[in-house]
Amino acid sequence: MLKKKIENALNKHLNAELYSSYLYLSMAAYFHSQNLNGFANWMQVQAQEEMIHVMKFYSYINDRGGQIKMMPIEGPPTQWKSSLDVFEGVYKHEQLVTSLIHKLVDLAVAEKDRALQSFLQWFVDEQVEEEASADDVVQQLKLAGTTGPGLFMLDRELKQRAFTPPADTTE
Ligand code: FEO
Repeated sequence: MLKKKIENALNKHLNAELYSSYLYLSMAAYFHSQNLNGFANWMQVQAQEEMIHVMKFYSYINDRGGQIKMMPIEGPPTQWKSSLDVFEGVYKHEQLVTSLIHKLVDLAVAEKDRALQSFLQWFVDEQVEEEASADDVVQQLKLAGTTGPGLFMLDRELKQRAFTPPADTTE
């Protein structure tokens, strides 16, 4: 059974992961409006990955006998200044999510909830990748420039990203 304090914190985080998916879909829509379909593809895959994160929290709260509570999702931005501006936003958002995960770990340690600590470790590791992949595109955009052939080539490259659900999400 989950302590109420932990149940509330996990529900709040589930909402943050839903917001992440919503934010990346909004970014995908922005790229579609700019005819940058490769960038849009990257964002759509990212939004799908965020839904995997949502469902991991959903299943975990349920498995521990907690009550899942859906809360309103904040409206994400819909306009950005440039492709670089968008990806800098992704990087910043992932840094925020990392800090939220680390706070959950702190709570799990303070409440001596070993099972929660173990569950959260996957997210601690995942956030390292999440930040690195966002920063990777930021750096490539800085090299390619925000218009012209460099941007075109990068758009083609990001079109290759495909969504691969992790094996353990079918449980
Ligand atoms: Fe679910 Fe990108 O953090």
